[in-house]
Amino acid sequence: MSHAPAVPVLTIDGPSGSGKGTVSALVAERLGWRLLDSGALYRAVGYAAGAEGLDLSDVEAVTRCAQGTKIQFRAASGGETRVIVNGHDATDELRTETAGAAASAIASMPSVREALVALQLGFRRAPGLVADGRDMGTVIFPDAAHKVFLTASAAERAKRRYKQLKEKGLNVTLGGLQREIEARDSRDASRAVAPLKPAEDAVLVDTTGMGIDEVVAKVLAVAQS
Ligand code: C5P
Repeated sequence: MSHAPAVPVLTIDGPSGSGKGTVSALVAERLGWRLLDSGALYRAVGYAAGAEGLDLSDVEAVTRCAQGTKIQFRAASGGETRVIVNGHDATDELRTETAGAAASAIASMPSVREALVALQLGFRRAPGLVADGRDMGTVIFPDAAHKVFLTASAAERAKRRYKQLKEKGLNVTLGGLQREIEARDSRDASRAVAPLKPAEDAVLVDTTGMGIDEVVAKVLAVAQS
């Protein structure tokens, strides 16, 4: 009996502001593959827990919330994806740095990560998947054929996030953002489970000073290698 070949996966991991989100979406579009924005799942759980008035350090309550939260991605006009959390369109709330910090806090809980595994694996469907996150190449899709780890200096990452959030009309300062990003990265990198680190077989791409087209071309080259 012959086995069907596994659906190909390209993992794109890295810290916030490395350009992962934008690059992953463009690469998925170019390849015609599905996209998994795993950060949105952690943001959605953090948001749902907050909306329920839960204490974000209460592991049991937050785990129950992660198990019970219904998260849907809906394609909107202009190629935009809306994130629906328990029936409510929470896309705008999820973009804030407050939501990022809440996500990072609950993402350090092993039982919360466990609750999101099956959902993430379910995204792997033909013709292929681009998986964007922190542990895509190390934990969720260790057998992925193509792995990229995107980085950029903290100053550059803060600048990019600043521009992104300003364009969305949010009131942020560059210095404040850089401090928040550094705090979040150090928590993500030092946690016991699924810490932010490149898979051994990942191709490292430092995007400092690189334009988006250049990064997309490099990542596509990895996917096609
Ligand atoms: O990528 P994004 O900034 O949306 O992720 C928000 C937070 O979710 C990260 O700071 C990280 O703590 C957590 N996360 C994670 N594992 C992933 C994706 C995100 O722990 N695969």
